[in-house]
Amino acid sequence: MQKIIFETFEAHNFKAKNRLVRSATWENIATPEGGICENSYALYNELASGGIGTIITGFTSVDAHDQYFGGMMRLCSDTLIPEYRKLTDTIKKHEVFVITQLALGAYYTKTQDGVYMEVDIDYMTKAQISEVVNMFVEAGRRASEAGFDGIQIHAAHFFFLSRFISPAVNHRTDEYGGSNRGRARILIEILHGLKNVAPGLHLTIKINSSDFLPGGLTQSDSLEICKLLAEEGIDSIEVSGNGTSRAGIRSDNDEAYFGDFAERLAEEVDVPVILVGGLRSKNVMEDILNNSKIELLSLSRPLIRQPELPELLKENKTDKADCISCNACYRTDGHTCIFVPKPRWLCGN
Ligand SMILES: Cc1cc2nc3c(=O)[nH]c(=O)nc-3n(C[C@H](O)[C@H](O)[C@H](O)COP(=O)(O)O)c2cc1C
Ligand code: SF4
Repeated sequence: MQKIIFETFEAHNFKAKNRLVRSATWENIATPEGGICENSYALYNELASGGIGTIITGFTSVDAHDQYFGGMMRLCSDTLIPEYRKLTDTIKKHEVFVITQLALGAYYTKTQDGVYMEVDIDYMTKAQISEVVNMFVEAGRRASEAGFDGIQIHAAHFFFLSRFISPAVNHRTDEYGGSNRGRARILIEILHGLKNVAPGLHLTIKINSSDFLPGGLTQSDSLEICKLLAEEGIDSIEVSGNGTSRAGIRSDNDEAYFGDFAERLAEEVDVPVILVGGLRSKNVMEDILNNSKIELLSLSRPLIRQPELPELLKENKTDKADCISCNACYRTDGHTCIFVPKPRWLCGN
């Protein structure tokens, strides 16, 4: 049966009005404690009113001491739950399925001098690994209490979990290293913990198809880990990779740059595969849906420039995103598009 972009899609604990997903996009505007600033409500309201089916929020740290990036949202304290509840209410008003992306940039511990220092994965104690698992699970509980419909484990782009599963970084010789199964043990423990605290939520993961690094995670490593996750009960898998936001996408051939791996993965697992990376044209997206088992299509930069893009595509008012993949948005305040003179959500605040 033909798959179309603008049709309802259902999966385990998941229902969205179409197959388009806003891929997690860090806005760099949260408070130092990880609270939601007023601009974020306006930004997410604008995104949610543009016709997207599912929104994955920007990465949200599980740890109060994570200093990996600035302006990160955090779900590290119960006191933050009301702000996140307001965020999910804002998004769900538009009948959009909302997923939080839980992440850890790096694991930090307090030294005797009272400063927080990053701990090398190879030197983490098992108690510290359990603490990380627990931080993800506790953040998942808060996400459930805040009204999120789903949780995404961020295990891509060389964030902490992505480094943990990478043979280029993890040289441990205990049960948390040594093989794909060993390095992925932390993911399975987090997944099982999340299932316990948030049984009604859709649990997804974003993972590198490859690290594209000598000695790093290869496609066959990633495939093996994804199959393991599917066996252990992950509900869907978003395929990405290092070299995340490729610049200079001009032609159809430049689009969907992780597509080959995602297609292969979709043949081998029986959970929905979400493809991200360079999707720009409606015809390319339709082609992927109908010539592979990929179920969902995820976009980041096109929605920074045009939050209303899904609606424009649906109404056939355009057939391609305006985003030229220049990556200048990575360097602007609030990660806005340089071609949008004054984003509405930045006005008046
Ligand atoms: C400003 C910016 C922030 C991003 N923040 C995140 C993030 O929080 N979590 C994540 O997994 N990926 C993040 N990404 C990567 C995107 O989700 C996406 O994987 C990548 O940009 C490729 O998709 P695109 O071609 O549709 O932009 C970010 C990308 C941009 C441009
Ligand atoms: S600055 Fe604008 S056009 Fe350039 S990549 Fe970002 S959203 Fe796309």
